[in-house]
Amino acid sequence: MVSIKTQKKGIILLGSANSRGETFQVAHHVSLATGFPIIDLKTKSIGAFDYEFKNQGDDFLPLIKAIVANYELIVFATPVYWYTMSGILKTFFDRLSDCLMIEKATGRKLRGMEMAVLSCGADRELKAGFHMPFRETANYLGMPYLGEVHTWLEKEKIPASVENNLQEFLKQICSKT
Ligand SMILES: Cc1cc2nc3c(=O)[nH]c(=O)nc-3n(C[C@H](O)[C@H](O)[C@H](O)COP(=O)(O)O)c2cc1C
Repeated sequence: MVSIKTQKKGIILLGSANSRGETFQVAHHVSLATGFPIIDLKTKSIGAFDYEFKNQGDDFLPLIKAIVANYELIVFATPVYWYTMSGILKTFFDRLSDCLMIEKATGRKLRGMEMAVLSCGADRELKAGFHMPFRETANYLGMPYLGEVHTWLEKEKIPASVENNLQEFLKQICSKT
């Protein structure tokens, strides 16, 4: 992977059930190329959305506040589990609702932050609609959606075709908008 010069402050949010699995391997590649740090959501204690906000003391609010304060781009890195994003990442998405209800100042700061998506699956193609929740959430929150890349490993390595797609993805997300 050729590293890419970027002034952009990006963060990779890893939503895999395996902290050192295949999605991590690809995310790590992107991290090395861009300098974007990886936050492993599996290491965080983030409860399911709760209408009574009983879990507002968990790791979600400090994490999202730190992200909006320090970064301008979020790359969501998710494995494909049953044709969609991982449960860990979906829980994070559900909790974004906290930012519209009890943490509105943070919600306002999400507006204008950029979003991109990296998926990793066994299959080389995603089913139609995989990116819809990302695009629509970005649209709803006022976050420019910069693009997406789908990846897979072959014999535990990133194949050349995927590496090419990753390079294109990086150009797309690292250029100033
Ligand atoms: C619960 C589960 C569901 C999966 N569902 C799909 C799927 O729908 N489509 C697919 O292409 N791969 C599917 N896979 C394979 C993973 O997406 C693939 O192995 C991926 O690289 C795993 O990344 P990880 O090591 O970060 O978990 C599934 C794997 C698991 C564990």
